[in-house]
Amino acid sequence: MGVADIFMALRGVLIMTPWAVGLVILDLLLSALLPISWFFPDWVYNASSSLAFVLWNWIQVIFEAINGGKITMSGDTLPAGESAIVIANHVSWTDFYMIQFLAIQSGMLGRCRWFAKIELRLVPLLGWGIWAMGMPMVSRQWTKDKKELDRVFAGIVVRKWPTWLISFSEATRFTPRKYEETKIWCKENDKPVPKHLLYPRTKGFVTTVQHLRKSKHVTAVYDISIAYSHHNKFLEAPTIWESLSCGDLSGKRGYKFHVDVRRIPIVDLPESDAELAKWLETRWIAKGEFLEEKREEWSKS
Ligand SMILES: *[C@@H]1O[C@H](CO)[C@@H](O)[C@H](O)[C@H]1NC(C)=O
Repeated sequence: MGVADIFMALRGVLIMTPWAVGLVILDLLLSALLPISWFFPDWVYNASSSLAFVLWNWIQVIFEAINGGKITMSGDTLPAGESAIVIANHVSWTDFYMIQFLAIQSGMLGRCRWFAKIELRLVPLLGWGIWAMGMPMVSRQWTKDKKELDRVFAGIVVRKWPTWLISFSEATRFTPRKYEETKIWCKENDKPVPKHLLYPRTKGFVTTVQHLRKSKHVTAVYDISIAYSHHNKFLEAPTIWESLSCGDLSGKRGYKFHVDVRRIPIVDLPESDAELAKWLETRWIAKGEFLEEKREEWSKS
């Protein structure tokens, strides 16, 4: 370890310690809210959204303002305060910065929710915090069980909570090795290979759309495309630790961050499960083309 590395590590610890303390306090508060949520679910949802906003906005400030991560964006302008099903490609643990960047502009940062494993309910603090926030908590078989579906989406459908429900359609992060597997799978199954992307898993998306389209306030799907470049290497993202400890990310460190969003009104989506799956697959091919254009554009600059 050189002097520069030690300096970076110290810098990271200094930046992160207050935030980590904040996270522990957040989880304590959320855990305390959990029993109250049985009596005042809407109030707890709002309170947990405000608390989460503070922590999420804080980490975004670390990434953008303190560490100089410059995010560029393209695509549609999102309406403020709209509830939506948000899908994205998955490259790195740092993808959430790109999604939060958009959520902040729409005033929905505190309303971001992610699918979580139901087993987390057994984990004190972190798991209870996630539970109290009204994250949709699912078991392995969640798409197959009608009763579980009603439970998972009750907050959004029954209580009409404003939400950005975010998921990565590829289920796992893009790596060159997994991309080779995608190519083989596509060949065997007679499907086109999307550029720079793994083949999307359609089941969770189809289930979510079919369930949430019944609730009047979820009015769109946001399709987000995330791209990185590091000294001209496309889709090379910083590690999460690098994003938190290193300064000048988009300067000397040579990272580029881009997020594109397309807003599709939910009424424009096809009706049947099969057509919805096909729709997502078609989106993924278009998304791959977009990423390829971005790669070319970046390689020239
Ligand atoms: C929660 O917040 C929403 C608006 O963000 C508001 O309309 C609603 O009345 C609040 N509910 C409670 C119980 O505070």
